[in-house]
Amino acid sequence: MISAAVLGYGTVGGGVVEVLQTNSDVIARRVGDEINVKYILDLRDFPGDKNEKLVIHDYDTIVNDPEVKIICETMGGVEPAFTFSKKALAAGKSVCTSNKELVAAHGPELIALAKENNCNYLFEASVGGGIPIIRPIVNALTSEKIDGIYGILNGTTNYILTKMEKEGARFEDVLKEAQDKGYAEKNPEADVEGYDAVRKLAILSSLVYGKNVDYNDIYTEGITKITPEDFAYAKALNKTIKLIAMGRETKDGRYAMVSPRMISADNPLYCAQDVFNAILLHSDMLGDSMYYGRGAGKLPTASAVCGDVIEMAKNPDRHLALIWDAEKQEIKSKDTLSQQYFVRVAGGDTAAVKAAFGDVEFVAVKDITGEIAFVTGVMTEKEYADAAAKISGIKNMIRI
Ligand code: HSE
Repeated sequence: MISAAVLGYGTVGGGVVEVLQTNSDVIARRVGDEINVKYILDLRDFPGDKNEKLVIHDYDTIVNDPEVKIICETMGGVEPAFTFSKKALAAGKSVCTSNKELVAAHGPELIALAKENNCNYLFEASVGGGIPIIRPIVNALTSEKIDGIYGILNGTTNYILTKMEKEGARFEDVLKEAQDKGYAEKNPEADVEGYDAVRKLAILSSLVYGKNVDYNDIYTEGITKITPEDFAYAKALNKTIKLIAMGRETKDGRYAMVSPRMISADNPLYCAQDVFNAILLHSDMLGDSMYYGRGAGKLPTASAVCGDVIEMAKNPDRHLALIWDAEKQEIKSKDTLSQQYFVRVAGGDTAAVKAAFGDVEFVAVKDITGEIAFVTGVMTEKEYADAAAKISGIKNMIRI
């Protein structure tokens, strides 16, 4: 029997215990041994819970118990999760986690510590919830050069944007409704400003490049400025608006950005609605491949954590190579990134727009007056900024 401990008996931790107990027979068959949850660490007690006797409050009991080989860190936040994870790895215990804040901040250090101690630090659940996306990148696609990552990596914002599109509703109203229903956090900043998505993008790009992408180096723009009018124009263009976490390798270097984008109906990401996540990878041999599913929630996230538990249980005393060096990966300034832009300008001076942007495609929507909207040709961010400075009254710009 292999003993495991779960740190944090909240939504995800509770899900991990549930999956390990509910599917204990199939897991035992696949691992070749039973996995037993020996401890659950939490500050709280859980009287009446069927696992209440497993709940303890002292982490050292876990880290000093030689029977415990696997630790599931489902606490969230950087501390004390970082300290607990380091102690476990230093003691030769493998750790798996859903904690994107910790992985984005300290991934290389924890992986190196796991290597030193011949154990593992795995984090499939930190990106895309239940969607297997890390294992494809580090295993299935290892013969490929991945040059494009395009992800809908945040369920809350995808839910809000989907509602805005379907109901013509305003951002503030949908956010409030989502908060009332418990879908969105009371403090929604991390989701709606893109801070959650940028950490997940930093994790994926670091694994693709093998070097550390610092999420602080990634330009990040959230969805708070998106309006129903923007969706009306998107519809006229046969497009929709999604919060896209983009990593792109070009001959000039490696770019990363989180921002709203207008995407066409023929883009596979177009179909990812509501709380679903989707990640479209482009690699040199396979071409496009897409990974789709539930990016959050108790059992989907727990499922990914348990996948790591099984991987670690099948590989006792063996470090599974994961290349994410501490060396910094340079991310190019967005100034030289090329793309098209959808732009709305107050007034009706089409001549000024043409003088600033050259050839553009104007788009009109019935009932929206007092402004002009257009799609630019392909230009760099710097060229866009220079052109935009030549006209006044820009109401919104969405990258395409
Ligand atoms: N707040 C995140 C989301 C949870 O909405 O996707 C999963 O990381």
